[in-house]
Amino acid sequence: MSAPLLEMQGVVKEFPGVRALDGVDLDVVAGEVHCLLGQNGAGKSTLIKVLAGAHQPDEGHIAWEGAPVTLPTPTAAMRHGIATIYQELDLADGLTVAENIYLGHEQSRLGFAQRSRMHDAARQLMRRLGHPEIPVTREVGALSSAGKQLVSMARALSHDARLIIMDEPSAVLAHDEVDNLFRVIGDLTAAGVAVVYISHRMEEIRRIGDRVTVLKDGRTVARGLPARTTPTAELVSLMTGRTVEYVFPPRPRTSETQQRPALLEVDGISRPGEFQDVSFTVRAGEIVGLAGLVGSGRSEILETVYGARRPATGRISVEGRALRPGSITAAVRAGIGLAPEERKSQALFLHSSIAHNVSMSSLRRFARAGFLDRRAELAATTEAVRSLDLRPPDPTRPVRTLSGGNQQKAVVARWLLKDCRLLLLDEPTRGVDVGARAELYTLIRRLADSGVGVLLVSSEVPEVLGLADRVLVMREGRVVREADAVDLDESKVLDLVMEGSSA
Ligand SMILES: Nc1ncnc2c1ncn2[C@@H]1O[C@H](COP(=O)(O)OP(=O)(O)OP(=O)(O)O)[C@@H](O)[C@H]1O
Ligand SMILES: [Mg+2]
Repeated sequence: MSAPLLEMQGVVKEFPGVRALDGVDLDVVAGEVHCLLGQNGAGKSTLIKVLAGAHQPDEGHIAWEGAPVTLPTPTAAMRHGIATIYQELDLADGLTVAENIYLGHEQSRLGFAQRSRMHDAARQLMRRLGHPEIPVTREVGALSSAGKQLVSMARALSHDARLIIMDEPSAVLAHDEVDNLFRVIGDLTAAGVAVVYISHRMEEIRRIGDRVTVLKDGRTVARGLPARTTPTAELVSLMTGRTVEYVFPPRPRTSETQQRPALLEVDGISRPGEFQDVSFTVRAGEIVGLAGLVGSGRSEILETVYGARRPATGRISVEGRALRPGSITAAVRAGIGLAPEERKSQALFLHSSIAHNVSMSSLRRFARAGFLDRRAELAATTEAVRSLDLRPPDPTRPVRTLSGGNQQKAVVARWLLKDCRLLLLDEPTRGVDVGARAELYTLIRRLADSGVGVLLVSSEVPEVLGLADRVLVMREGRVVREADAVDLDESKVLDLVMEGSSA
């Protein structure tokens, strides 16, 4: 094997009260896809922020092409050819696609002639990334998450990066978009670029990884294992220090749930351009899954049930009573809760504590004679934090300092704590590690067993099939199939969602 492009040894990074990196070793060679694996909070994002020049390590050595190097700023990292696609994309929403790509380039103070050259170059990059249709003069804020990620990639390419770091890039992508991403990664590595790839999805690591480095509690516990042949059980036990059975909680018998009363009845709702003529029922105690590609209308349906969007036609009722359309207040009063897909903008107060974020929707539960019973609030949040293995397990910490997966757990914990009768979950396990997923599944099932109805959206078909009782398969805004989960399998669902689509 050729000499490493990058070598890190004994890297340490401390935040107040947390040793996020506690002696990390990593070596990456040119042309490989090197996967970083580890539980939520293991230190993956912190490690790559050190590489990106965004954090300064407290100890350790970094060598680039065999020579010691320091990366005091993001610009310094860029200059060496290290580019990063962050978990939270770092684009300027108000600037255009082309402006974002060329942000920070020397030639960015441009006259008119250079501007058109910049647009041409940006167009070429978007073509290379398989998306020539994205207009380079469009504001980035108007793009989907997948589109924004492509802009971030184009920026990396524009710097002739030799190492591209991707922090959970597939978490925001639909099935066909993941295929496109993997094609791009294949082109890059064939040209000698190295890729560091972070994902909680094992099957992706098998598909594109060459080697795997495993982090646990800020330390490297395995370095450069073969990505395709190392058994999953071995990787999982390295990550978690235990063996995790990747199983779903048992379902109640179908005949039992079928007898329960209908909780939510959705009858022929439509919103032009989003979804058409959608009807379904969720019974008390039942988990109903919506499967389909991103853009098939799933999230829009959830938001319509929640009253955040108003249906053009059709009717929604809860326990037989019609729900006022387009009113969140009415939905909440009827006992509906929504755990939305985009955490950052919609769900979390980043500067507030975990406890506040978790309990904010159920404050009434902790009110006593007009005062907030802080002890009861803390006890309940501590329990939620414990049962979800949220780390660090200190409810007074600001959410901003949590790792991506742990922030996600805080959002879900909030809804598990609230007394909802119908819970709408949009991608509840996005970014959550394999160990914590199993716990989340158990909690969701336990909630259903207590009589709550759950409507679940997930891009991961095995998750919908494993967790839900009944599944609605969506394609281009329509329900194309409804069936008990046990009567479907992954390839059947994928055939249904892809059929007739251009991909
Ligand atoms: N700015 C910060 N201030 C304080 N603590 C932080 C900060 N950033 C990260 N941490 C802590 O460092 C540890 C590692 O976090 P990191 O984000 O690197 O985890 P991760 O492996 O990327 O996890 P995930 O899979 O959930 O994204 C966590 O305990 C986290 O709470
Ligand atoms: Mg992370």
